[in-house]
Amino acid sequence: MRSLLFVPGHDARKLAKGLDSGADALIVDLEDSVPDAEKARARGSCAEFVGQNRGRLPLFVRVNALATGLLLDDLAAVVRVQPYGIMLPKCASGRDVARVDAYLSALESRDGIAVGSLRILPIVTESAAALFELGSYAHDAGPRLCGMMWGGEDLATDIGASANRADRSYTAPFELARSLCLFGATNAGVPAVDSVYTDFRDLDGLRAEARAAVTAGFSAKAAIHPAQVQTINEVFTPTDEALREAGVIVAAFAQQPGAGAVNIGGRMFDRPHLRAAQRLLARVKPGA
Ligand code: COA
Ligand code: MG
Repeated sequence: MRSLLFVPGHDARKLAKGLDSGADALIVDLEDSVPDAEKARARGSCAEFVGQNRGRLPLFVRVNALATGLLLDDLAAVVRVQPYGIMLPKCASGRDVARVDAYLSALESRDGIAVGSLRILPIVTESAAALFELGSYAHDAGPRLCGMMWGGEDLATDIGASANRADRSYTAPFELARSLCLFGATNAGVPAVDSVYTDFRDLDGLRAEARAAVTAGFSAKAAIHPAQVQTINEVFTPTDEALREAGVIVAAFAQQPGAGAVNIGGRMFDRPHLRAAQRLLARVKPGA
């Protein structure tokens, strides 16, 4: 999965447009892009949309945060139509994921869905407190965890930052949050998802940010506008050359299972290269 496009859950026109955007997944939003007065209606339109289109591409539903008191009603409305996964915003630790896991199990059981089917994709950097818990996902989040995404908008509010970027680049506190998400996701063995680029007319800025993310080790990036999808897909698609080289590395280690390092054409490749090659190949598997 390279691109995940946010679509406001109460906006039927955008939901339909999202399907044809070329995004690898949609995140149907019940949280910040839906005004309070629309929350109840959005639950219904979101459930209807997911029920009708879940076979077409992976559909996540971003529910409201645990502290809002809205989350149980959100889950009760959408689990029955079996979205690919739930995006949990303002997630404070792996224990929050475990709590939502328990809610999902109860609802899956109610709805006759195999328990454990729905995945959870948390946004893990939306408060200062959350940044101190990024190591917790590896042991506390459980098997539904399918990735970790970071976000810098709510974090800015939490820490009292008047901006999170200077010119186009993130300032130091937000770069740190971004890196910690990457480390936390790697530690938990799941893909890291880069945050949104809100200036959706600036495709050069988006491309530069996406390139930096893929270079650092992120697997995907979220989008807020269909115009961003193609750029993200391009940047996060491994080149044929990179895939070929990864295949050669994996094959060389398969031939010498006990080896710590192998010689490929006069160059040394060791275990970290093998893990990187395996990760690259995993990224292009369908549904990854
Ligand atoms: N998903 C699907 N379609 C979208 C879209 C999205 N996220 N954003 C825009 N579009 C559609 C618009 O409906 C419009 O189509 P139309 O003219 O046929 O109606 C077309 O793409 C061009 O949109 P544009 O006029 O450039 O932007 P806009 O003013 O309609 O919308 C935003 C701008 C920011 C309000 C919109 O992109 C949006 O809602 N983004 C997602 C917000 C969100 O979910 N935030 C939470 C995560 S951070
Ligand atoms: Mg937010």
